[in-house]
Amino acid sequence: MKKVTVMAIAAALSVSSVFASEGEKIFKSKGCTVCHKANINTVGPSLKHISEVYKQKNGDLVAYLKGNAKAIVDPSKAAMMKNYLKPLKSLSDEQIKALADFILSH
Ligand code: HEC
Repeated sequence: MKKVTVMAIAAALSVSSVFASEGEKIFKSKGCTVCHKANINTVGPSLKHISEVYKQKNGDLVAYLKGNAKAIVDPSKAAMMKNYLKPLKSLSDEQIKALADFILSH
């Protein structure tokens, strides 16, 4: 019984890390790293800062990435970010979720 539980937990953990690495791949392949670093604010806010704001304000990152919710991190610069949401339209729901999970893992 114990062994089964341990295996179930291990399986659950590996599934979530697969999602995060899929999200990381998308993040890199779509050129997001040009303006977003993990821990320091550059042209865009750091992933850590985005993650903190979304958790604090209980924001819906999936909706934002799909273009269905307004910017909540730094709305005065939202115009700069807008163009980079367009290439995300071709992603599946699972890929958007993986991307959001990757950002929120910071
Ligand atoms: C040319 C620079 C640039 C690129 C490239 C870029 N961003 Fe941004 N991003 C910004 C700036 C500036 C902001 C701050 C404005 C804002 O909060 O909307 C921002 C904000 C964000 C936010 C917070 C939105 C909010 O609620 O305020 C997310 C999430 C985000 N970017 C994700 C991405 C992803 C994913 C990509 C790649 C597809 C990407 N960014 C590419 C400049 C960029």
